[in-house]
This record gives sequence, C-alpha cells and structure tokens, in this order.
Amino acid sequence: MDIDDNEPKPSGELALRTYALPKDTNAHGNIYAGWIVSQMDLAASVAGEKATQSRVVTVDIAQMDFVSPVKVGSVIDIYATITETGRTSLKIQVEVWAHKYDETDFHKVTDAQFVVVSVDQQGRAQSIKQN
Ligand SMILES: CC(C)(COP(=O)(O)OP(=O)(O)OC[C@H]1O[C@@H](n2cnc3c(N)ncnc32)[C@H](O)[C@@H]1OP(=O)(O)O)[C@@H](O)C(=O)NCCC(=O)NCCS
Repeated sequence: MDIDDNEPKPSGELALRTYALPKDTNAHGNIYAGWIVSQMDLAASVAGEKATQSRVVTVDIAQMDFVSPVKVGSVIDIYATITETGRTSLKIQVEVWAHKYDETDFHKVTDAQFVVVSVDQQGRAQSIKQN
C-alpha cells in the first residue's frame, strides 16, 4: 500500500473492501453519506460476527464526521477495531479510507463507533463466549 510513514494510517483489521460505483451517487455525482454508513455497518457486522462467532445486530452508531469526499471509482477500505467487549455487546471502532485502484490518493473518509449485540437464532441478546 502506498502510504508515507509520516502520514496517518488506518487502525484495525481490514473488514471490507468495495468500490464506490455510479449507482451510489446523487444527481451531482457525489457518493451518498448513507451508502458509506451502510458499508460501515456491514464491516462492523463482519468484525462482530467473526469475534463472537454468532449473529450480531447493530444497536448504536456514534456521531460521524465526513472529513473528505469519495469519488466514483474509488476503492473503499473499511477497518474495524474491537475496543470493548461487554456481556452481550461489542464496541467496534470503524474507519473508512479511500484510494485509487493503483493505491494512490489514499485518504481517510470518516470513522465512527458502532455497538453490536450478539443474538441467538430468535434475535435475543446472548452472552458472548470468551475464548
Ligand atoms: C439488540 C437487542 C436484541 C437487545 O435486546 P435487549 O434484551 O433489550 O438487550 P439489552 O438492553 O440488555 O442490551 C444488550 C446490550 O446492548 C447494549 N446496548 C443496547 N442499546 C445500546 C445503545 N443504544 N448504545 C450502546 N449499547 C447499547 C447494552 O448495554 C447491553 O450490553 P452488554 O450486555 O454488553 O452489557 C434489541 O434491542 C434489538 O433487537 N434491537 C434492534 C437491533 C436491530 O435490528 N438493528 C438493526 C436496525 S435496522
């Protein structure tokens, strides 16, 4: 990855990689914030289900600031870090970074804290099994 040692770097494990496509834009050609949030939710679920080895549901998304725009055709990398494990819930810090296909123009788009809850087959909160 083409990242300068002095530049900020993503924290966490790569949970999801996708493309920003023309269908994800508004009439002005900008990527919707809501599309980014939905990709972050998927990444939080991937990280949460891997960590808990169970289904998870999202119960909370903390405040988000979008610090740079996303251009159509960008590769979107979403990183996740589990910052706290509760009885049934996980706090997961999710960061979104964008870059071109050739890994240039690497920049942070946004981050947010997600809370996901481990649930059973009936959708009830269940204790997280500790390894
Ligand atoms: C998740 C759900 C099963 C929890 O049910 P519940 O029996 O009321 O569970 P609790 O109130 O005991 O909360 C469970 C855990 O979530 C945490 N939690 C719940 N709401 C929270 C919130 N808004 N922010 C942070 N943590 C929250 C609780 O602190 C608890 O954590 P812990 O067990 O690690 O201490 C239920 O609220 C639900 O199904 N919500 C909808 C989830 C969903 O569908 N998300 C997608 C929306 S489209």
